This record gives sequence, C-alpha cells and structure tokens, in this order.
Amino acid sequence: MSGVFPHRHLLGTEGLSRADINTVLDLGERFLEIADRPIKKVPTLRGKTVINLFLEPSTRTRTSFEIAAKRLSADAVNISGAASSTTKGETLMDTATNIDAMSPDVVVIRHAQAGAAVMLAKRIRAAVVNAGDGAHEHPTQALLDCSTIRAHKAKGRVDFAGLTVAICGDILNSRVARSNIHALLTLGARVRVAGPRTLLPARITELGVEAFDRIEPALEGVDVVMMLRIQKERQAGGRFPNTREYSRYFGLNAHRLALAHADAIVMHPGPINRGVELDPAIADGPRSVILDQVARGVAIRMAVLYLLGGGDSGAE
Ligand code: NCD
Repeated sequence: MSGVFPHRHLLGTEGLSRADINTVLDLGERFLEIADRPIKKVPTLRGKTVINLFLEPSTRTRTSFEIAAKRLSADAVNISGAASSTTKGETLMDTATNIDAMSPDVVVIRHAQAGAAVMLAKRIRAAVVNAGDGAHEHPTQALLDCSTIRAHKAKGRVDFAGLTVAICGDILNSRVARSNIHALLTLGARVRVAGPRTLLPARITELGVEAFDRIEPALEGVDVVMMLRIQKERQAGGRFPNTREYSRYFGLNAHRLALAHADAIVMHPGPINRGVELDPAIADGPRSVILDQVARGVAIRMAVLYLLGGGDSGAE
C-alpha cells in the first residue's frame, strides 16, 4: 500500500505537505473502486474501533465517515449531539476522556468550537480526525474536493499548477474555504475568493489568495467554481441584507457561469441552499460535480482512516 503519512492526527490541511496530500489522494483513488464491488468491504481495519463524535449537525460527513469505517471493516460507533451527555452538561473533555477509556483507535470529531479537535488530540491516545471545528478547518472536505479537482481538471497530475479556483460565498465563516485555501495553494493552484465585503476575512490576501467583493471578476476564466452556503448558524448579527439580495448579487446562474472557462466545473460541499447561492439548473446540470464530491468523500475518508488507524492493506 502506497504512501507514508507522517502525522498521528488529521486536524487541518494547514501544515500538510504536497506529498502528504498526494498520499491521501492516491490512496483515495484506489479505494474508490470498492464502491462498485458487489461486496463493498475489505478487511483493512478489522478489529479497530472508530468513534464518530458529532456534536454539531451533519448528514453527509457523518454518514460518509460511518460508511468509510464500515467498508474497511472497522467497528464504527456514532455519537451525535442530541444523544450525548454533552446535553446534560458534561464538558467535551470529560466526554473525550471517557471515550478514550474505551480504547478506540480513531475518534472523528465535529464540534461548533474552533480548536475542539486540537484540544481533543492533546488529551486522548486515539488518532483524531477533525470533521469540522467551528469556522476553523474541515480537512477531509478539502481533500475530497482536491480529489474531485484532480480527477476532472488536473488529469491525475500531482500538482495543480495552471489551475485557478474561485471559492465564492461566506468565506469568513467557512471552514471549507479555509481548508481548501491551504490545500489548493499547497498543490500549486491559484485561488480567488469572492463574497460580500462583510463576509471576507480582513487579511485574507495574506494567505496568498486574491479577494473580490463581486463575483463576476472572480469567475473570469477560472477552471473550478466552488460555491459555499451562507453559514447562518455562525452569524450572530446577520452580515448581509437578505437572501434575495444575496442571490441577486452573488448567486451562481448560467449567465455568471459563462464568465468561467468553457470547461469549468461547479462544486459545492453541501448542504445546498437551492436558489440562494446556486441556481438549481446548475446544481443538477452537466458542469456540476457535486455528487462526485460525495462519492469521493467516502473513498478519501477511507484513506484517512486507513492511514491513521494503522490497518493492513485491503485495497488490492
Ligand atoms: C460543510 C460544513 O459542515 O462545514 N458541509 C459539509 O461538511 N458537507 C459546509 C456547510 O455546512 O455549508
């Protein structure tokens, strides 16, 4: 099985090298075909325990990690916010140390608080995978996005030199944007971000991206358009007037998509707010690779669980 991954946890894409990212992407590519087998299971993580600790709402990511663990034959246990003792006042650290006492091999955590995964990794023995911590990072989403871009636009190349990606929407509150910015720049892509001025972090260009407060110039000639949802749950004061106006100025429609490269692909991490950031005709249209992102999500999470869970090869 390919690749050496010199990390005990996956807490973010910040700090991953190009080689690290490509190790995950290569392995994900090999795991992809397991989804087409009549029996979708390999013995790779047999006897290992994966706990999915989801303390913030999630459909895709939680299901994807659960399927990934099961396809690798790990025992997967899911704990979700409403069903956990955190609703009875237990702190995350108490939940974590109690979970650790049950000797899991990997703990996948989603939490509303930025830094939750890092904190957990310091306190428990299991490998920790960050499945989204507040507005901070969501590394497996960025890795599955890179896998999708590599398949559609980079023709399997290991670097993204020559590709331009526009990430559009609520950049300020998006962990998907942050993780993608780090990963895409590391792979050599050019990155543009676009959104209302109030939703662009003040010093975003210091990361090495170009920033636009209108979507049209950001879309010109790009190879990839990544649309994001307005993260209402993280906006106390409401930083834009209303959804109708947002859609009018920042929504992706056919007219605006025509500004991008003729072969540009359209991505979205989900959940989509149809008719707000994305015209349904585009979400369901020929340029959309949104469901491929979801399919690749399972394979990428299998790769991550394999690399951190210490299993035997099973993709052959
Ligand atoms: C994203 C998230 O939770 O950060 N969704 C996901 O993981 N598929 C993006 C979002 O919620 O808008």
